Amino acid sequence: MDKIVIHGGERLQGEVRINGAKNAVLLIQCAALLGEGKTTLRHVPRLSDVRTMGKLLERLGCQVGGDRTLSIDPEGVARGGLEAPYDLVKTMRASVTVMGPLLARYGRARVSLPGGCAIGARPIDQHLKGFAALGAEIELSHGYVELRARRLHGASVVFDTVTVGGTQNVMMGAVLARGTSRLENVAREPEVQELARFLNKMGARISGAGTPVIEIEGVDSLGGIDHAVVPDRIEAGTMAVAAAITRGDVLLRDAPVDDMHAVIAKLQEAGVSCDVTSDGLHVRGPEQLRPIDVTTRPYPGFPTDMQAQLMVLATQAHGQSLLTETIFENRFMHVPELGRMGADIHVNGNSAAVRGSTPLSGAIVMATDLRASASLVLAGLVADGPTEVRRVYHLDRGYEAIEKRLRGLGARIERFHGAPG
Ligand code: UD1
Repeated sequence: MDKIVIHGGERLQGEVRINGAKNAVLLIQCAALLGEGKTTLRHVPRLSDVRTMGKLLERLGCQVGGDRTLSIDPEGVARGGLEAPYDLVKTMRASVTVMGPLLARYGRARVSLPGGCAIGARPIDQHLKGFAALGAEIELSHGYVELRARRLHGASVVFDTVTVGGTQNVMMGAVLARGTSRLENVAREPEVQELARFLNKMGARISGAGTPVIEIEGVDSLGGIDHAVVPDRIEAGTMAVAAAITRGDVLLRDAPVDDMHAVIAKLQEAGVSCDVTSDGLHVRGPEQLRPIDVTTRPYPGFPTDMQAQLMVLATQAHGQSLLTETIFENRFMHVPELGRMGADIHVNGNSAAVRGSTPLSGAIVMATDLRASASLVLAGLVADGPTEVRRVYHLDRGYEAIEKRLRGLGARIERFHGAPG
């Protein structure tokens, strides 16, 4: 197992180009199953989650090639088992979003139930509710969900809770359905909008993505296309925090600023200078950070995927900050590790009170999930002495070579292979 060692104290300076968005790519990879013909994706980040999704597509019968430019040809899928097996779904929950495309195009899908994961129970009841409304027969047995439908039909679905994956999955189910579908109380995240753009380019008729109601007029077929993936708002946000806490001066080239309003607003409240330029986002950390109150919400609210990173910023701010997590339970697993580095954080239910500023001191810390790992790296950037982050495979799921990118900005950070787990 790899580990990352950081010697804190450097001010980050320079520029970094933001990679393609993980959460957009994963869904677009699934959507490629819907096309008649090959899809080519550009600006694909080199991430283990993207490779895992590639493996799943191969298991389903697709031909998958390349990495930065990824090609997916679903030609062989109909001859495969149309099954997403447990060993892949358990490593990456987003695998369940092959359900919609398989069901829509091939009339059947057998997908392992994802079960719990480190950041909460994360059920898929809303996905299944949507497919049932579209006319799928659904059976749960042996830990798998099996869905069948000769051809799905248009339907009205009102989601009980705002779910990104549920919205995307059901939207992909509806694109080839007979008739029109209306999805209400949907997620408005940029990744939902990006998926809708991609599907429309393939020939789908989707309107309303980015609003609470999406309408989909079913079509008979979709084509494979060539598409460049949008930049990653969470990677950009993470780099922005890195610049902010080190009193750095960094240009985040290609940062998708229009999708980052909530994060930029919070950084500004903390006293961070964020200038939108024609190249991206120019971030400059102040001499003294101000405390902030943050509550995670569905988009356009503050993203849960930036909560752990903002908590590190809060440890460096002068005064008390309050961070409240409303999307996932168990999403404070970074708190004890940050505590071991000297942070003063008290969790009460789904809120964390952070008293700053506290000097952090380097320690051996254990990554627990993707964004928690990012927060430990950030903490290492301002800690005194070396910080050793273990289990960095969590980090590699969502950040491409983060150590190289931070090193390019002047951080003292290195990866070592073969560390203890
Ligand atoms: C996606 C993102 C993840 C992000 C999350 C919230 C991807 C690959 N992952 O995850 O990075 O943190 O959105 O922005 O894009 N829920 C139900 N029933 C369902 C589905 C969800 O109760 O059928 C609940 C979940 O338990 C959770 C909440 O809804 O509490 C939001 O989950 P959801 O938006 O579905 O997250 P994901 O799509 O899994």
